Amino acid sequence: MNRSVVRVDNLHKQFRSGGETVAVFHGLNLTLAPGGSLALMGRSGSGKSTLLNLLSGLETWSRGRISLFGDELTAGDSLHWSELRRKRIATVFQEANLMPAMTLTENVQLRASLAGHDRVDAQGWLDRLGVGALAKRYPDQVSGGQRQRAALAMAFAMQPALLLADEPTGSLDLHTADDVADVLFTFQREQGCPMILATHDSRLAERCGQIHQLADAA
Ligand SMILES: Nc1ncnc2c1ncn2[C@@H]1O[C@H](COP(=O)(O)OP(=O)(O)OP(=O)(O)O)[C@@H](O)[C@H]1O
Ligand SMILES: [Mg+2]
Repeated sequence: MNRSVVRVDNLHKQFRSGGETVAVFHGLNLTLAPGGSLALMGRSGSGKSTLLNLLSGLETWSRGRISLFGDELTAGDSLHWSELRRKRIATVFQEANLMPAMTLTENVQLRASLAGHDRVDAQGWLDRLGVGALAKRYPDQVSGGQRQRAALAMAFAMQPALLLADEPTGSLDLHTADDVADVLFTFQREQGCPMILATHDSRLAERCGQIHQLADAA
């Protein structure tokens, strides 16, 4: 029985831009067990964001297999992927994706309700991420690091079955980064939520159960 939450077998991914081909993955293998945490490390351009996009169904691949929650997915199955993104997979990207016309609280509430959770303590999640005092502000009225923390609050509030976060501490000072890491690992422990964190932050990576080092893209 396949008990992995994430299973990637022999994955090949290349981009073509102009006349050039960038081979990002040629035979990538990776698994994440229920409740586990994995740090995705590698130099800039090694494919961390690309892999998170692939695991969210936002990129296609040429060869290999991706299985999530025991089901093998195909790149073209957009209905299945969008259902997963709405209800089960929380993604926090490098550029936090908040609705600009909504306050931080409203953004958290909306994300949770799209996942089927209408009674959510949006203020409580924003408090835990240290941005509770900014709850009534709009995304363009807060800093990049504060927006990213609001995006994490949105991810937690949807009670995902898998959390994918791209550089969740990337724009934070050391002290705030440690606070956010504490919240992330507390969430993982309390909810048993498996997570993959793309990061250059070795302090964050060392707290994960496994570290996967990506080779440079060719
Ligand atoms: N749409 C695209 N078209 C062509 N090449 C792309 C595209 N998206 C990414 N790439 C290339 O694929 C490689 C992997 O990019 P990716 O963004 O996944 O790297 P990363 O590890 O997340 O880097 P960083 O640490 O800078 O965020 C890079 O060489 C990048 O230039
Ligand atoms: Mg990246």
